[in-house]
Amino acid sequence: MKGIILAGGSGTRLRPLTQVTSKQLLPIYNKPMIYYPLETLLKAGIKDILIIVAPDHAGDFLKLLGSGKEFGCKFTYEIQDKPEGLAQAFIIGENFVGDDSVTLILGDNLYEDDFSVAIQSFQSGGRVFIKEVPDPERFGVAEFDENHKVISIEEKPKVAKSNYAVTGMYIYDKTVVAKAKSLQPSPRGELEITDLNNVYLKEGTLDVAFVEGKWLDTGTFESLHEAIVFARERELAKNKNN
Ligand code: TTP
Repeated sequence: MKGIILAGGSGTRLRPLTQVTSKQLLPIYNKPMIYYPLETLLKAGIKDILIIVAPDHAGDFLKLLGSGKEFGCKFTYEIQDKPEGLAQAFIIGENFVGDDSVTLILGDNLYEDDFSVAIQSFQSGGRVFIKEVPDPERFGVAEFDENHKVISIEEKPKVAKSNYAVTGMYIYDKTVVAKAKSLQPSPRGELEITDLNNVYLKEGTLDVAFVEGKWLDTGTFESLHEAIVFARERELAKNKNN
């Protein structure tokens, strides 16, 4: 299993914080944001990680993270010239993915859970992680049938069909590259991860797991603040127990 951290994008909602730096380099209490998704992958045993960044900040990520030796893993870097969608990660990362399965995590998503089992047990198809949220319209939203089976995923619907958001971590088999290449850009000009998930869903190979612990998408001022408070509490509790 390989890993990809997607840390490009434009971070417009966090301006002016993101005027001169990347969102994923902003501090979340005592660490840069990208450390959190990185630790989620490392905790699950992933040691070969592609980091995709925007051209303006590539040097800063390299300076911060280096070869990966310090973290006990190996980093590869790629540049996404323009933020043309999450699913583009698999086109950019085609050579990196090769014949392996891959876990994609967004560089601004923070999880409390340990995903070792979910990641190590993965065999084929696709796996998404959903969480009940009060504001599903901000995300990809899962629609269920009467047997609680997911039948579709809708990207940022005006009226959500459930409160279950598809969160920012996804596991796919090697067919993800060909599937990503088959996608057409959405009206907002992006290759949508929701479209990719729907390809797996139509094929009958998408499974859905639940996020048990806290999940934060830190792209707004409110969620950024919440993440800092959460990270601080967790760090203080850890220090108290040591
Ligand atoms: P978003 O939060 O949807 O987008 P953004 O980071 O550009 O922020 P804003 O909407 O405020 O302008 O992106 C989610 C994550 O995915 C984030 O870590 C950035 C990353 N991303 C890319 O790396 N490339 C992309 O093409 C897109 C759309 C997002």
